[in-house]
Amino acid sequence: MTIPEEELRLIREEILPGFQPPEPRFLIPVLQEIQARLRYLPLEGLRAVSEYLGMSAAAVWGVATFYPQFRFAPPGQNQVKVCLGTTCHIKGGEAILESWERELKIKTDETTPDRRFSLERVACVGCCSLAPIMVVNDLIVGKSSPISVKGEILKAKTDKK
Ligand code: FES
Repeated sequence: MTIPEEELRLIREEILPGFQPPEPRFLIPVLQEIQARLRYLPLEGLRAVSEYLGMSAAAVWGVATFYPQFRFAPPGQNQVKVCLGTTCHIKGGEAILESWERELKIKTDETTPDRRFSLERVACVGCCSLAPIMVVNDLIVGKSSPISVKGEILKAKTDKK
């Protein structure tokens, strides 16, 4: 996925110059600022960070991937989360996740190239009695199944028109 020019400009011209002097000790605050502004860390942006702070790209990547707070795909216009907590897992959550992957042609933690959908797995969302659960744009969908995925995609596309 190519990062839009505007996102790279924002990182290079607005975020990075705010950290002076450019030193590796600013790495985590820089990453947090990028995530706060863009809601993810674009790979090209991480390259710009490594050049700015004078660190290797591998070192920046190592730190960024160490912390679960950072995500590397932009959030989709429609955010889909599939619960794989114990109850949902037992009741078929994995098959639902696979169905989303198949229909959207992406893997978990990815975003479709048009940024319309992003897909994540989550731990228990606290509605185990309705398992298996998926969450589409913060709306809990209980007693879901792999075959309900197509309908949810259609609904999300219709709602966001
Ligand atoms: S395990 Fe999915 S809601 Fe609890």
